[in-house]
Amino acid sequence: MEKLSYKLLELIALSLGLPAERFSDYFENDTSFVRLNHYPPCPSPELALGVGRHKDSGALTVLSQDDVGGLEVRRKDGEWTKVKPIPDSYIINVGDIIQVWSNDRYKSIEHRVKVNSERERFSIPFFFNPAHHVMVKPMEELIDEQSPAKYREYNWGKFFKTRKLSDFKKLDVENIQIHHFKISN
Ligand SMILES: *[C@@H]1O[C@H](CO)[C@@H](O)[C@H](O)[C@H]1NC(C)=O
Repeated sequence: MEKLSYKLLELIALSLGLPAERFSDYFENDTSFVRLNHYPPCPSPELALGVGRHKDSGALTVLSQDDVGGLEVRRKDGEWTKVKPIPDSYIINVGDIIQVWSNDRYKSIEHRVKVNSERERFSIPFFFNPAHHVMVKPMEELIDEQSPAKYREYNWGKFFKTRKLSDFKKLDVENIQIHHFKISN
């Protein structure tokens, strides 16, 4: 998963006109992790969600899933679209960090998971995240007077911890999001 993620990151760097290795140093002592999800069948799928709508806060997510389906992504027009499972393939999500690094050229995708009334579902996401100490901000090569930085810099470790805390405590406040670091021009 790490090898694949590095490869994807290199391709993303090249697509932005940056050297392939531009992001690699941020991943020394990375905070990547794997999650094992099991969604049991739910008798009233219209009343519950497997995972509520959210964006992944890290760099990339590589998702392995079975053939049950349930993952939905939010399109530009705000409509939810099913992501059809394709056998022997991974789903790649761009996370918030790539959105900030690319100064909004890439967009982090909002997604959610629906439950199924008949079948249980298994999924295994791999979250590819930089080191705790990394300060995240738009790449200097991508900003100038015409296209200024759209985000203030923030510390990845602190951002991630804050989001997890508000997740677990189910606080009645908005989760920390990258738009909190958005610079209004
Ligand atoms: C990564 O961790 C090792 C062991 O704790 C440390 O020696 C090294 O300086 C760390 N590298 C970075 C870039 O922080």
